[in-house]
Amino acid sequence: MKFFIDTANLSEIRQAQDLGILDGVTTNPSLMAKEGIAGDEAVLAHYKAICDLVDDKVSAEVISTDYEGMIKEGVALAAIDPKIVVKIPMIEAGVKAIKYLSDKGIRTNCTLIFSATQALIAAKAGATYVSPFIGRLDDIATEGMTLIRDIVTIFNNYPSLNTEVLAASVRGSLHLLDCAKAGAHVATCPFKVITNLTKHPLTDKGLAQFLADHAKAQELIEA
Ligand code: E4P
Repeated sequence: MKFFIDTANLSEIRQAQDLGILDGVTTNPSLMAKEGIAGDEAVLAHYKAICDLVDDKVSAEVISTDYEGMIKEGVALAAIDPKIVVKIPMIEAGVKAIKYLSDKGIRTNCTLIFSATQALIAAKAGATYVSPFIGRLDDIATEGMTLIRDIVTIFNNYPSLNTEVLAASVRGSLHLLDCAKAGAHVATCPFKVITNLTKHPLTDKGLAQFLADHAKAQELIEA
């Protein structure tokens, strides 16, 4: 399973990259705004800065919602760096834009997926990734994981689709565990969710005990 970090914060991206487990980055306009990034030049420069920190696959989202606008933005974003994956919203014009960009060899990530049929049509258009949002479905009392399982099943039924399931809106370790069990190809997680994966109270307790026993034995030798 591939791990992407879901942030536009350069420090978090650097720390996740330093862990040695990072496969990519996803951003969205809200995450960019959270970092105070606005204006065409600043946005492009920030995406370039992210690309310089990681090995590959940086999802950069278009703002346009019309076909021509999405194509223009998508081509401009892809020109920043070969690591860029153009993120396109799941709307009719978006499906056309995904088809255009994938025919040009530009990787795409179809975002705001809330049904398996949306994922299927994005895959038909040639999307590299589809991003089903687990947490936002859970928020409205609809089981987000059911969507992940359905999409994985459909894509496994049709291997020629060649699109990866990128689980998004991941809110905690349990989401990640369930995504891995369901066979999602990728999960994109906030920094805190990634670092929490290392934690267990019995690990802390066990380590404290090991170190205390070692210190005692050392004292006896030195006495
Ligand atoms: C990533 O591609 C999505 O934009 C992101 O995971 C959405 O997460 P949220 O629902 O926590 O905002």
